[in-house]
Amino acid sequence: MAQTVVLSLGGSLVNPGKPDRKYVRRLVELLKATDYKFGIVVGGGKLARTLAEAVRKKGAGEFEADEAAIWATKKNAKFVISALGRSQTHASPCESFAQARQYAKKYRFVVMGGTIPGITTDSDAALLAECLHAKRLVNLSNVDGIYSSNPYLEPNAKKFKRISYQKLINLAGRYDLRKAGTHFIFDFLACKLIARSKIETHFVHGKNFSDVRNAIEGKPHGGTVVK
Ligand code: UTP
Repeated sequence: MAQTVVLSLGGSLVNPGKPDRKYVRRLVELLKATDYKFGIVVGGGKLARTLAEAVRKKGAGEFEADEAAIWATKKNAKFVISALGRSQTHASPCESFAQARQYAKKYRFVVMGGTIPGITTDSDAALLAECLHAKRLVNLSNVDGIYSSNPYLEPNAKKFKRISYQKLINLAGRYDLRKAGTHFIFDFLACKLIARSKIETHFVHGKNFSDVRNAIEGKPHGGTVVK
C-alpha cells in the first residue's frame, strides 16, 4: 500500500494576492507523478490576514478573527481541490480530522484548511500527519529551510541541513518572543506535535520543485530535515 506524505502548503504560495493557478497546477503534476498518497493542509496567506484584520476593525475578538482566517484557508484549500480534479479527491475541504481519516480510505489526496481557532495550519498539518500515520511531513513555504536566526533580518543566519526536534522547539520558542510580524517558519505547537510523534519533517522552498520532490521521497535536498 502507498505511504502517505502530509504537506503543509503555505497560503502565500497558493494565493500570494490572487490564486496562483500556474504554481498549483505544477505542484499537482509533481505530486501525481510520485508513488505516494497525500494529506495536504493549505494555509491562508495574505487573504487570511486581510480578512482577520477586517473583522478586528469591526470590533470582533480574536476568536472571530481566527474564524475569518480559517475561512480563507478553506477557500485556498478549495482551489487546490479543483486543481487536483474530481476523480482524485473529495469535493470540499475536510471539516475534521475524523473526516480526513475516512476520506483517506477512499482518495489518494485528502485536502483541508484550518480547523479550530487558536492554532495555525502548521499544527493542523502535524495533527493530520499523526492522524494518517504519515511517513513524513513536508513544509512548503517561501523560506528554503530552518535558519539559526531570521534570514530576512540577519544576513549571517546559518541554514541547518539537519536538526533535532528539541533544537527546533528551542528555535521556535525563541522566535515566539520576538516582535510582532517576525514569526517562525513553523509554529511552536506544531514543533511540539512532530516531536511527540517523531514525525520526520522536511522544510523546503515550495517553488524549488526538485527539492520538493526529493523531500517528499525522503531524499537529500537543499532544505532542512528535522528528525
Ligand atoms: P496559516 O496557517 O496560513 O497562518 O493560517 P500563517 O502562520 O499566517 O501562515 P502563512 O502566512 O500561510 O505561512 C492563517 C490563520 O488562520 C487561523 C489563524 O488565525 C492563522 O494565523 N487559523 C488557521 C486558525 O485559527 N486555526 C487553524 O486551524 C488554522
